[in-house]
Amino acid sequence: MTKSENVVWQEQAITRDHRQEQNGHKSFVVWFTGLSGSGKSTLASALESELHRLNCRSFVFDGDNVRHGLCGDLGFSEDDRKENIRRIAEMTRLFVEAGVIALTAFISPMRDDRRKARDLIPDGDLVEVYCNCSLETCENRDVKGLYKKARAGLIKNYTGISSPYEAPENPEVSVDTDALTIEEGTAQILDYLREHGFIPNG
Ligand code: ADX
Repeated sequence: MTKSENVVWQEQAITRDHRQEQNGHKSFVVWFTGLSGSGKSTLASALESELHRLNCRSFVFDGDNVRHGLCGDLGFSEDDRKENIRRIAEMTRLFVEAGVIALTAFISPMRDDRRKARDLIPDGDLVEVYCNCSLETCENRDVKGLYKKARAGLIKNYTGISSPYEAPENPEVSVDTDALTIEEGTAQILDYLREHGFIPNG
């Protein structure tokens, strides 16, 4: 859907294939989802460090960071979260075209919004990673002190407290972030990426 009229798609001489070949690896999206405090940003960052070490070009989109700029005009209503995820999905689509591995760390609580994100990315090029962590653990961690505020009624629509989180039904990877260390979780994702040909073996 677009409001712009009289715009014509321009083909470019250099394509995703050229960029992937130059980079020596495939481009794709690793889409993290999970409650606040479930380890999305931590795992995305750890995974990016490993990818960097393997000479792969990557970029992390993080909910808290993106909401300072690109999505700074959005709040946490159902519509605003939908728009937040739509913009990020469009960004990752461009990054995939640019030959880069895009890692996203957003709660992305609604299945339908995540499905729409997947639909924007070329078939098979989005790896959904569920940071599977109980609300109890996330709340006990409460790294930013926001669960406490949400319980006290100081934050409205807080995911897991006063706003829903729909767990993925068929994620490519489900990391038990309740129990695993960051290193173990990162290794589990890297194994998946190697086994399924996203990154070279070795
Ligand atoms: S999403 O639901 O639209 O995907 P996003 O990942 O961008 O959320 O932002 C979540 C982060 O915003 C949380 O980690 C938390 O720090 C902060 N935050 C502030 N208010 C809320 C809220 N009402 N619900 C969830 N997270 C919130």
